[in-house]
Amino acid sequence: MSGSNKEYSWEEAASFAKLSLEKFKEKAEGLKIPGWKTGKFKLGNLEKYFNGSDGEDFDSHIIAISNQKGGEGKTTISLYLAEALSQDHKVLLVDWDPQANATQLFLKEDAPSVMECLGYRGRKKISIKNIIYNISTNFDLVPSALELANLTTPYERDDFELLKEALLPIRSEYEYIIIDCPPSLGLILENALLSADFILVPIQTRAFSLQGIKDLHETITKIQKKANPRLKLLGAILNQYEGQKALSGLAEGIKKYFPVFETVIYRRESIPQAQAKMSLLSKIDNATLKNFKELASEVKGRIHVEKN
Ligand SMILES: Nc1ncnc2c1ncn2[C@@H]1O[C@H](COP(=O)(O)OP(=O)(O)O)[C@@H](O)[C@H]1O
Ligand SMILES: [Mg+2]
Repeated sequence: MSGSNKEYSWEEAASFAKLSLEKFKEKAEGLKIPGWKTGKFKLGNLEKYFNGSDGEDFDSHIIAISNQKGGEGKTTISLYLAEALSQDHKVLLVDWDPQANATQLFLKEDAPSVMECLGYRGRKKISIKNIIYNISTNFDLVPSALELANLTTPYERDDFELLKEALLPIRSEYEYIIIDCPPSLGLILENALLSADFILVPIQTRAFSLQGIKDLHETITKIQKKANPRLKLLGAILNQYEGQKALSGLAEGIKKYFPVFETVIYRRESIPQAQAKMSLLSKIDNATLKNFKELASEVKGRIHVEKN
């Protein structure tokens, strides 16, 4: 299909993208989609950005790590799943939490944050390419900052898709994009779930609430039905596991709502230590990184099953 030589006019390209001509023009210029100067668009280029089906067939996978409770391991799993995947793939970690915990591990001073790439409430926006910070080989970060907390109220429909739009020009540059979500339900989370292809839910095994899991499940189902039908629930990951005897009962409770990963993440002191030292996990404790590499394999396997 991509080999076709047909050139699309502005109108044809807009209809391919399922956008009004005006909206398409704005997007084509903003994203500098090849053809935006001449008004002649190649199908292959349009597919890259729009795919006729809203980005469904990108080679990249966007995974939101989410749970509206704090302390469940979202940031930890985002960080080290990304680090594990980056050994074989190009990975982008998007810090999408106003608390900016992941960002503070790598950036000591204030840096331009993702908020500057959103254009929320008419704010001037810059390309996300300009704020990407390289952590290590194949491992990049989009920093967050407290100002992201201002993203609270949707003023227009597009406000649900600010992150999705911001990621569009770089989607094809990464194989995995991991979004570290905030500990809340609301517009910030909704933006993450509208951008994502998959959701992973970390659950801290020592103190967890089934009610919280039920609420999150409701939010996800609502988004799948109303706004993002391609969103798939990859499953829940038990975190801080210490060989609890009651685990099978706990996993059963969770399974009513989410599939549960075979891989569990063990409670390891080296995890907070690596974070306190602002270091990659591989530099502190390779054995623990192995646990995340197992998780990465299972994530890849489950994505493969979902996609085929
Ligand atoms: N498997 C683990 N073993 C030991 N400590 C952990 C583990 N997972 C998370 N932690 C610690 O628990 C705290 C909360 O984890 P974090 O990833 O920040 O949760 P969240 O992002 O969901 O709020 C952090 O101090 C982190 O270092
Ligand atoms: Mg966090």
